[in-house]
Amino acid sequence: MYLMFEGSNNVLTNSMKNVILMGTSLILGVSVCESYMLGPISHTMFPEDFLFGVATSAYQIEGGWNEDGKGPSIWDNITHEQPNFTIDSANGDISADSYHKYKEDVELIENIGFQVYRFSMSWSRILPNGRVDNVNQAGIDYYMDLLNELVAKGIQPMVTIYHWDLPQALEDIGGWTNPEIVDIFQQYAELLFQTFGDKVKWWLTFNEPVEVAQGYVTETLVPADFTDQKGIVDYQVGHNLILAHAAVYRVYQQKYSHQEGKISLAIICDTCLPATDTIEDKAAAERCFQFSVGWFAHPIFIGDYPPVMRERIDRFSIEEGRNTSRLPYFTRDEIDYIKGTADFFAANHYSINLAAAGSEFETIPSYVSDGGFYEMFDPNWPSQEVDRFKVVPQGFRWVLSRLRDEYGNPRIFISENGFSTNSSFVTDDTKRINFLETYLSALRESIYTDGCSVMGYIFWSLLDNFEWTSGYTAKTGLVSVDFNSPNRTRTMNKSAYWFRNYIEMHKIYYQ
Ligand SMILES: *[C@@H]1O[C@H](CO)[C@@H](O)[C@H](O)[C@H]1NC(C)=O
Ligand SMILES: *[C@@H]1O[C@H](CO)[C@@H](O)[C@H](O)[C@H]1NC(C)=O
Ligand SMILES: *[C@@H]1O[C@H](CO)[C@@H](O)[C@H](O)[C@H]1NC(C)=O
Ligand SMILES: *[C@@H]1O[C@H](CO)[C@@H](O)[C@H](O)[C@H]1NC(C)=O
Ligand SMILES: *[C@@H]1O[C@H](CO)[C@@H](O)[C@H](O)[C@H]1NC(C)=O
Ligand SMILES: *[C@@H]1O[C@H](CO)[C@@H](O)[C@H](O)[C@H]1NC(C)=O
Repeated sequence: MYLMFEGSNNVLTNSMKNVILMGTSLILGVSVCESYMLGPISHTMFPEDFLFGVATSAYQIEGGWNEDGKGPSIWDNITHEQPNFTIDSANGDISADSYHKYKEDVELIENIGFQVYRFSMSWSRILPNGRVDNVNQAGIDYYMDLLNELVAKGIQPMVTIYHWDLPQALEDIGGWTNPEIVDIFQQYAELLFQTFGDKVKWWLTFNEPVEVAQGYVTETLVPADFTDQKGIVDYQVGHNLILAHAAVYRVYQQKYSHQEGKISLAIICDTCLPATDTIEDKAAAERCFQFSVGWFAHPIFIGDYPPVMRERIDRFSIEEGRNTSRLPYFTRDEIDYIKGTADFFAANHYSINLAAAGSEFETIPSYVSDGGFYEMFDPNWPSQEVDRFKVVPQGFRWVLSRLRDEYGNPRIFISENGFSTNSSFVTDDTKRINFLETYLSALRESIYTDGCSVMGYIFWSLLDNFEWTSGYTAKTGLVSVDFNSPNRTRTMNKSAYWFRNYIEMHKIYYQ
């Protein structure tokens, strides 16, 4: 039996919401409903300087995969080597064609009213072989033009330096498994600071480093090169990612702080609640948190790896007869150097799971067996149209309070949150609007009831795009893209109009 954590079946239908809207009064903007009950919608309840934004990433929207001197990335490589790597045999060769249509994209962002645009720069568009000794001027020009468009319209850019599309030339030397990449990445980041730093005040080094690390040992992610070394190579990659992040933060502090930007990394915070209220399952949920969020957040926000990861992986390594731990060690100096290398907490969040304790895992050792928990869903949770994502706004609120408690109430930017529809049966995106209403409502509760320090909310995504192994079958855009038309015609969906109205009402209140 699953624990019905308080309110887990309180996802309201529109008609229920109307009843509550009429029956509930607002006192100083704080809902009087019981804690997880969703209060009435009020657009006035975000702080004055709260920022609304929208996100994309380079490989997912740009296309132009080999144009004007761009080098191949690992995603170009895998989709060309194995066309069936994605469920619809798709690739990002053209995608939404934002390489040519970025002006239209910026107009859409302006039209909907977003204040922030989070996008990523394609490393191999700027540096075809990944190294600063060979700069592709056309790549620099493309991002300069995009930034100029954004700045002219008063939209703040938030740049993800690495969103999964490693130059193939760097994968050929081992990619993130090779410690040399720390320095190579720092040089690339410095080039971006030197070139774009006067226009960009928000930087994210990595998007979801846990996925980058898992990509090396998981068949369904890229580069999938070390699938026989689960529980080893993924920790080495994670180690290098953390060192690379810290190196970039520190060099910015030393040489570019006059640019007055803020730096963090986007950590996926789809963590777990306990499946039952037994001590074992509560501990399993805590391991789920530390192995997913804590793996990267603990070294950066607290110092060193989470003790539970350290203890378990060291212990299992000894039991396996190894003479070193599969989880690498930081030196004392490295711990200090890494600690404090984020100006805010960037949290991606889509969905939540339940965790139950367990020890029977197919692959031992592995990250999954080290964590020692199973993930499952409460059957009462509604699904997005892509099944692995559930609609649990109360879970979003719970995650934010967990971050508040664990990391000393950090300033949080929601760097991704969104709703997938499925192209096989969708006709409109009303469900995305319902999702937004409940999640933004939960977010207001986090800020005003729970005291979480949330600075902004970035929606994934502006456009329908190449959704990794789901290809073009999962739609995440406020704006739909006709992938059958050579023009890649963009059409604002209902949710885009809804969001425009929502942001507009926020502005009216604070004028
Ligand atoms: C993928 O990368 C490998 C290693 O660089 C290369 O040999 C191969 O030709 C590439 N495949 C494609 C389709 O580009
Ligand atoms: C994809 O195609 C390759 C050959 O190109 C084949 O070896 C592999 O089994 C296929 N994978 C799937 C999941 O169909
Ligand atoms: C540790 O084990 C590895 C592989 O089994 C071996 O190559 C290495 O020499 C060992 N190191 C020490 C210090 O015993
Ligand atoms: C979309 O729905 C179809 C039909 O139910 C299913 O086969 C497909 O896997 C779904 N796509 C995704 C990305 O979930
Ligand atoms: C978005 O709008 C397009 C064009 O009107 C429509 O074809 C599509 O079904 C809509 N998609 C969603 C998810 O609403
Ligand atoms: C593409 O755009 C051009 C120029 O706006 C237009 O003439 C053409 O009809 C469009 N084609 C399609 C298939 O929409």
